[in-house]
Amino acid sequence: MVKVNLGGCGSFVKDADYKVYVGKALEALEVLESGSGAGNDFLGWKHLPSETPGSLIAECESVRDSWKAKGVDLVVVIGIGGSYLGARCAIEALSHNFAKQLAGPKDAPEVVFAGNNLSEDYLAELMDLVAQRNAATVVISKSGTTTEPAVAFRIVKEYIEKTYTDASERIVAITDARKGALKTLATQEGYKTFVVPDNVGGRYSVLTPVGLLPIVLAGFDVRAMLAGAKEMEIACALRSEENPAVKYAAMRNLLYKELGKKVEILVSYNPKLQYLGEWWKQLYGESEGKDLKGIFPASVNFTTDLHSMGQFIQEGERIMFETVVNVEKSGRSVIIGSDPQNLDQLNYLAGRHVEHCNAMAQLGTKIAHIDGGVPQLEVSIENLSAYNLGGLFQFFEYACGISAYVLGINPFNQPGVEAYKKNMFALLEKPGYEEMTKAIKERL
Ligand code: PA5
Repeated sequence: MVKVNLGGCGSFVKDADYKVYVGKALEALEVLESGSGAGNDFLGWKHLPSETPGSLIAECESVRDSWKAKGVDLVVVIGIGGSYLGARCAIEALSHNFAKQLAGPKDAPEVVFAGNNLSEDYLAELMDLVAQRNAATVVISKSGTTTEPAVAFRIVKEYIEKTYTDASERIVAITDARKGALKTLATQEGYKTFVVPDNVGGRYSVLTPVGLLPIVLAGFDVRAMLAGAKEMEIACALRSEENPAVKYAAMRNLLYKELGKKVEILVSYNPKLQYLGEWWKQLYGESEGKDLKGIFPASVNFTTDLHSMGQFIQEGERIMFETVVNVEKSGRSVIIGSDPQNLDQLNYLAGRHVEHCNAMAQLGTKIAHIDGGVPQLEVSIENLSAYNLGGLFQFFEYACGISAYVLGINPFNQPGVEAYKKNMFALLEKPGYEEMTKAIKERL
């Protein structure tokens, strides 16, 4: 269960104002639930937890089993934006921090990501790794035409075709049901394919095969993830001021509109959650940053970033609030020992769990940042499990839809993403862009 605690905002906002914004958030929830708002043909994500059939998970597991039978030990997941961040977030959150370095047999293939940049070094080094391993690939693109994954896929595909006699069985495509270059190629080559539903946009797609397949391949329990998400599907649809998504959406909009807090920093105290920040930034940035409006989403990992960004957050321009993702219990136990010399003067902590220090750092930071003028929201889960991660995904998606409607923005389109693509195509002299190529070259 995801819980929202707004106690760290209490000294900044008036109860009466909060109530007004709860009212706005409940209205926005009504718009989301009735499907009467902008972008309402992209609401398929709301019911993915309760409507995903077991047969879809079984299909993902059958890819996992067939690749295991081939001895596949490396899966290259190719995709960008919403076609990769959810899977990466889940796999990093649920994996052992040192999974790659640990000795001993592995239960699952290593999953690496590509197609999320255009760095030649990255691709060359990826291929160094692929060449040493027994590889397969999952290529994910809803549109089927995005340049970054298309470039990476062309290279990985060429290698797989040249190296393995069963090449087409080592490639899985996740794309639109009917259209796009990837769909055409997959049909032509007989690749196993999964569908990105028409009514689910990229950044809301982690609980479709876009996220589920890579997560299954990495060895994690997507049934538990969907069960956790289902709990939040129900909780976030409640017409109540206790609805956690309503609370979160109301408070962040109040801080933005009434206190001029234009930056929201997602904070975690566990390095495994770094990619939750990346996933969340895309979700909120692409959903809300439109029409010259929106809260700028940033993320930090404490305590490490307290030694870098901590200074700005404490004393720089007062433009931000924090949302802390609080994991109540750690998964493992490490107790600080006693040292007869005590040169580091840590004996006062002897017998304490390291997580106790982390919790006190979190509490101390909360008090310091509130004293420094930074309101703090808290989003808590009991532990870092697949179940709770699924709950977080569903919670943040719901709260994003509600929040954007409070702001008066369509949360489900991303018109601004096209601007760089058009310029890039013009500069790359893509056929069909001749006029733009001429115009852009004149500007250089
Ligand atoms: O959220 C979005 O819609 C985007 O981030 C897309 O996921 C991203 O641009 C990749 O698009 P595609 O899956 O069509 O390759």
